[in-house]
Amino acid sequence: MVIFVSRSERKWDHIRFALQNRQNSSSVFDEIKFIHQSLPNISVNDVRLDHSIGELSLSSPIFINAMTGGGGEKTHRINKELAIAAKSTGLAMAVGSQMSALKDKGERYTYEIVRKENPNGIIIANLGSEATVDQAKMAIDMVAANALQIHLNVIQELTMPEGDRDFTDALKRIDNIVNKVDVPVIVKEVGFGVGKETVESLSSVGVAAVDVGGAGGTNFAEIENKRRDRMISFFNEWGIPTPISIMEAANASEKISVIGSGGFNTGLDIAKGIAMGANGIGMAGSFLQILVEQGVEALEEEIESLHKELVLIMTSLGAKTISDLQKAPLIIFGETFHWLNQRGID
Ligand code: FNR
Repeated sequence: MVIFVSRSERKWDHIRFALQNRQNSSSVFDEIKFIHQSLPNISVNDVRLDHSIGELSLSSPIFINAMTGGGGEKTHRINKELAIAAKSTGLAMAVGSQMSALKDKGERYTYEIVRKENPNGIIIANLGSEATVDQAKMAIDMVAANALQIHLNVIQELTMPEGDRDFTDALKRIDNIVNKVDVPVIVKEVGFGVGKETVESLSSVGVAAVDVGGAGGTNFAEIENKRRDRMISFFNEWGIPTPISIMEAANASEKISVIGSGGFNTGLDIAKGIAMGANGIGMAGSFLQILVEQGVEALEEEIESLHKELVLIMTSLGAKTISDLQKAPLIIFGETFHWLNQRGID
């Protein structure tokens, strides 16, 4: 039996299953270790977290990654609370895919609330790679976006019974959008990572940043498989783990900024992601879990704690800025080492 459900039911399923799924998650950053520095020669007061990803100047390297929109009252409330937390902590925030609101005007309020709550914040619009130039412009206008994310989610679509089956010309459409919109375009995966070949293609058409959306965090193959009668279980283990994907992307092109995401939970994960080459770190599932289970104040406290942890780690490494942290020496073990070695990446 194939299950066909409405778009808003599907969005709520994604949230429910993403939260259940998190209980099994382990860290993909265990194979990366910092080299301790006994003479860091700085004070905690010297450390600054502000940084830029291409043209976007940010007060923190952390941002709230695309999660949800459409889906009625429940997702309206989640977006409103994410926007409140983004504003009070100074984080940039991406909204979830806006395609539902382009098809049904009645859904727009679930996205517009994000700009309403945070009039001066950095907000990133979001659409899939099936989007046209006109749709991209409408999505940007809907939230007065400072940047546009275009997500690539081939494995999620293939695992969904009702998902897309035709992925031709995605790069051509991205190229068109990059040339016709007046905000930077970020292309992102949703939990399967990007390899250097993909990043080279994206860079060649002028994409400003790639968000690696690596494997090791929220797993959309597992989420979609929960909605199927006959599982396509081989996709559950698919994809490029986040730390590897950051290094693949950072080695692909000088022209493109790299954003790490997929499985970040702690300040140490974030520091490792940056030291592997990321200019910023997106977090989705772990923030959603705190928000839904403990509320908006707990999410704000979590973000402040992550900032404090990052400052402690940067102090211990003698890194005054995020750019310094990107140069901190690391040791890489195990499968991560073997992967990078075989691909000639260091
Ligand atoms: C997502 N993600 C996502 N990404 C995107 O580009 N557009 C979207 O609409 C959504 N929707 C969405 C819903 C829910 C409930 C979750 C948890 C996630 C993917 C997200 O931005 C991110 O790439 C992955 O979740 C991996 O990061 P984490 O969750 O491991 O931090």
